[in-house]
Amino acid sequence: MPATTNATSNTTPLGQQLSESPVVAQALDTLIAEVESKSAQITVPRGPVDGMSETYEAYMKRAAATRGKGLLYPYIGSGLGNRALVELMDGSVKWDMICGIGVNFFGHSDSDLIRASLRASLGDVTNHGNLLSNWGPYKFSETLLELAGRNSGLSQAFISPTGALANENALKVCYQKHAPASRVIAFQDCFMGRTVTMAQIGDSAGARVGIPLSTQVDYMPFFDEVEAEAVGLAKYIDGALVRLQEFIDRYPRQHACFIFELIQGEGGFNTAKRDYFRALMERCKANSIAVWDDEIQTFGRTESMFAYEALDLGDLVDVFCVGKMTQVCATLFTEEYAPKPGLLSGTFTGTGAAFDVGNRMLERLRDGDFYGADGVIAKHRDAFREQVRALAARRPEWFPKVESVPGKPGALDIVGGTGGMMRMTPFGGKKAKVTKACRACFDEGVVLFYCGHGPYHLRMLPPLGVMKLEDWPRVFECVERGLAKVAG
Ligand SMILES: Cc1ncc(COP(=O)(O)O)c(C=O)c1O
Repeated sequence: MPATTNATSNTTPLGQQLSESPVVAQALDTLIAEVESKSAQITVPRGPVDGMSETYEAYMKRAAATRGKGLLYPYIGSGLGNRALVELMDGSVKWDMICGIGVNFFGHSDSDLIRASLRASLGDVTNHGNLLSNWGPYKFSETLLELAGRNSGLSQAFISPTGALANENALKVCYQKHAPASRVIAFQDCFMGRTVTMAQIGDSAGARVGIPLSTQVDYMPFFDEVEAEAVGLAKYIDGALVRLQEFIDRYPRQHACFIFELIQGEGGFNTAKRDYFRALMERCKANSIAVWDDEIQTFGRTESMFAYEALDLGDLVDVFCVGKMTQVCATLFTEEYAPKPGLLSGTFTGTGAAFDVGNRMLERLRDGDFYGADGVIAKHRDAFREQVRALAARRPEWFPKVESVPGKPGALDIVGGTGGMMRMTPFGGKKAKVTKACRACFDEGVVLFYCGHGPYHLRMLPPLGVMKLEDWPRVFECVERGLAKVAG
């Protein structure tokens, strides 16, 4: 084959010429204008449109048949929305305050992201792989590593299509580095994903029914603010270190890693003091136990881009996972933890569209004014809290004291969470009423979910990238109607 050819005098590859072609740009403008004109018609929540409900029921039945069980929510999106509002296939419109459990930070029908997705979809293949791929995955990794590297030693990334797989890869990296150590340390109430191994580590009995237990896990209690205040933080931390040391002494050199979810997601949006995490992480370091930070749910949503930045822990993190909002998931590690060739691979990394949209989202998070004490996320956090307090003042009977559960973090406020991970706790945090409230709120026009293993909370992961502060009272009109149905 000749080293060069003169098939084109242009020095950019034809593929790039296609992507940058003015004809493509014009076509994209036309498509985006059409999306925007339809999207602009979605302005308020509303119920199903006459005549569409029947067909919707049929869709629901067909969807349930494919799964062998009904959907938790009667939610099938129509493919259109407007910022925080989403249209369903029955023509109804709802406030989306959960965003696919934290995925769609820039809401629905975002022009910029649709443009990135459409442009990437012109590529010659749909999916990229570990063996051969286009530039998308590397560009995505480069952007992510640049951001991660600002306050940590994380310098390499391996991409996976799901969070659970990113965690599997993180675990392999830890095992390999500390072979033959076979145990892991995790926090009570943690969530890791749904693979066979992650379901074993995740602290939920229901998620591992029938799964053979082959992974050896030692559970540390999560931080209990009430107890820490009662005994004093230093003494509380000493107690936690004694507990950790017991595990280390019981199984010397047998722990490959300690998995930290700095703000527990499914576990109920619990977090801890910096000094507590730091002390535990330093003890791990001293005992050759990898510090693994799972930020699959927290990434991008707290008052700093990475939760380890807010808590000033980046220097201690060895292995790190990200997902959800980033559209594709990744395991990051320091050079010291770089795996040997052959450990990590797989056919797919992700679609071209997912990489380019993920990359745009990272750029927008980086270039926007989301973070810091006066950032957009902090403002939304305050607006949310104000709404919950006002609702509780109007309806104190809906917000009795949240009972603490023995062995779990102590008595809680009715409103909590960190940044864009928002929780409120009506009905004392009782499971039956809180889960019922989720469905009632859905019917009243707001999609949210629950979190926690007792007490149970109503959880929001709203699209703060596009939501307006003035949306909050409108969202809470729906929440109030939903809670009224359950309270009554
Ligand atoms: C902290 C955490 N880790 C891992 C996962 C698993 O991610 P995925 O559902 O993409 O497999 C989740 C998902 O909710 C999560 O919140």
